[in-house]
Amino acid sequence: VIGVESFSGYQPLFKSFATDAIHVGSEPEQWNSRAVVPPISLSTTFKQHGPGKHAGFDYSRCGNPTRSCLERAVAALDGAQYCLALSSGTAATLTITHLLKTGDGILCMNDVYGGTNEYFSKIAAEFGLDVSFADLTKLELLKAALKANTKMLWIETPTNPTLKVVDIKGCADIVHEHNKDIIVVVDNTFMSPYFQRPLALGADICMYSATKYMNGHSDVLMGLISLNRDDIYERLKFLQSAIGTVPSPFDCYMCHRGLKTLHLRMKQHFKNAMAAAQFLEADPRVDRVIFPGLPSHPQHELTKRQCTGCPGMISFYIKGKLEHASTFLSSLKLFTLADSLGGVESLAEHPVSMTHVSVPENEKKELGISDTLIRLSVGLEDEENIIADLDQALAAAVSISKHIIFLHSLT
Ligand SMILES: Cc1ncc(COP(=O)(O)O)c(C=O)c1O
Repeated sequence: VIGVESFSGYQPLFKSFATDAIHVGSEPEQWNSRAVVPPISLSTTFKQHGPGKHAGFDYSRCGNPTRSCLERAVAALDGAQYCLALSSGTAATLTITHLLKTGDGILCMNDVYGGTNEYFSKIAAEFGLDVSFADLTKLELLKAALKANTKMLWIETPTNPTLKVVDIKGCADIVHEHNKDIIVVVDNTFMSPYFQRPLALGADICMYSATKYMNGHSDVLMGLISLNRDDIYERLKFLQSAIGTVPSPFDCYMCHRGLKTLHLRMKQHFKNAMAAAQFLEADPRVDRVIFPGLPSHPQHELTKRQCTGCPGMISFYIKGKLEHASTFLSSLKLFTLADSLGGVESLAEHPVSMTHVSVPENEKKELGISDTLIRLSVGLEDEENIIADLDQALAAAVSISKHIIFLHSLT
């Protein structure tokens, strides 16, 4: 047996992914010491051969050896020519948005990370960008939303937190037919390059909050941008250094180290999430489970056409009301109640009061971000322990209903 070449029904896994993750950017021959692990290069400045004649690096904001190693590895994993590392996913969003000018239009998927929604609607809009949102799962709505001034399309797929899957190729084709210069950006944070390569599907820019799966250990804030277009790369490289949204060499080292096990982690996240999603879907205490890997997901077929598998993200509606969701979340023992996702440890959160608290009420309602919606980032612990924890927390949530009925019977 030569190993798994694809998950059943999904696109084939990308060739040489693990080999590239481990070796690209880590070549010992690039250092005089022949170090197998890239050193952390803390120097902020580099001695020049003569005025204006440097050996590849002059000042660390403009370029850093440890950052270059990480950037080369990520470019390989995305099938990209270029990559830029930024100080957070949000810094990547801001830097990409600086490609636009006052009056330009940005059309964004209506269900995105709360911070992205907030940045576009409360900051970019104030600087004169024409920001609009549409449900990009419906291609006819995308067509209707394109304007003469649209310069950028912002896709997040699967979306955060309701895990809607957007057809990247379908959107890119429509948008580029409308105007080939519109920059199509895909936030690939949830999928990682192990499960999805947006550039091969027609996107111009692929970005990440590498704080999540790419680093994978909940100990680094980082943003990454991969792309192939020379003109956009030159501008972004200029913006990266001119705005100064750069990560520290130590964080670059950590993220590069995390990347080397991305393939192993993503496989296990998929396996554990599938088991948890199947358990929740079969459970009468749960109203509805959203997981793109389940046949019940509205875009399950699209997911299989577009991706090589699914990450550990599951959202579900618990039966009952806010109190049931709260009791469930505070009864979890193995899952940690915390923001963020994509680490080795399982996390749970309540989008309406945590990650998406800044999204306006009417939008939350329209998107289905209700009191009973719970988002899980299924980690790499043992499957039976993950399921046992969900089971006992659901039992705790149900027990408050019994308590309420008992109190009613006394009155
Ligand atoms: C999908 C997505 N994009 C972007 C971000 C922002 O990234 P960061 O927190 O690294 O700034 C997040 C953070 O949760 C996210 O989930």
